Amino acid sequence: MTGQAGGAWQLRRANADDVPAIMELERATFVTDAWSDATMMSEVTGSNGYYLVAIDSAGGDAIDGYAGLLAPRGSGEGDIQTIAVAPSARRRGLGRQLMLALIGEARKRGARDVFLEVRADNPGAQQLYRSLGFEGVGVRPRYYQPDGVDAIVMRLHVPEPETTIA
Ligand SMILES: CC(C)(COP(=O)(O)OP(=O)(O)OC[C@H]1O[C@@H](n2cnc3c(N)ncnc32)[C@H](O)[C@@H]1OP(=O)(O)O)[C@@H](O)C(=O)NCCC(=O)NCCS
Repeated sequence: MTGQAGGAWQLRRANADDVPAIMELERATFVTDAWSDATMMSEVTGSNGYYLVAIDSAGGDAIDGYAGLLAPRGSGEGDIQTIAVAPSARRRGLGRQLMLALIGEARKRGARDVFLEVRADNPGAQQLYRSLGFEGVGVRPRYYQPDGVDAIVMRLHVPEPETTIA
């Protein structure tokens, strides 16, 4: 897959071998509330999960981003669990590309709605989600600890695939 505005990444399904590189970016990104290695491992390898990593097509081993969905088939719903893009790769369309890939997978699994939580003090991420059609549907007070920051719950009605009548 090719990004816009100069960014070009390969997205591929994450596996257990990617967890150390994912955790490096996780800890650098979510300084006060990073997941543990064990949580990340069970998320990445869980049967209802779908995690992607983005590799810079220009080469190098480091990952430029990752994102994960939890969407049990048949439940009709999905949750965006996490997303992070390395600071050097931001504002070049990778976050949007990762989100669109997760939404596409949620649709394949039969989800009609996709939910996520975002920190109230993270307007950049909220803007990304709104631009994709997510709407605020609730607030979880002081959800993010130890910072005591509210979570805004957002929902996307998954767009129907375009169909043509023969
Ligand atoms: C949020 C995040 C994933 C966005 O990744 P990204 O690759 O920079 O996003 P994109 O380049 O695809 O941005 C798409 C659109 O989202 C909005 N957006 C993204 N970051 C923004 C910011 N910091 N401020 C304002 N708008 C922003 C813009 O509308 C942008 O379009 P534009 O660049 O044409 O204006 C990235 O900033 C990140 O990893 N942040 C730290 C971790 C985080 O906050 N994760 C979300 C937790 S809920």
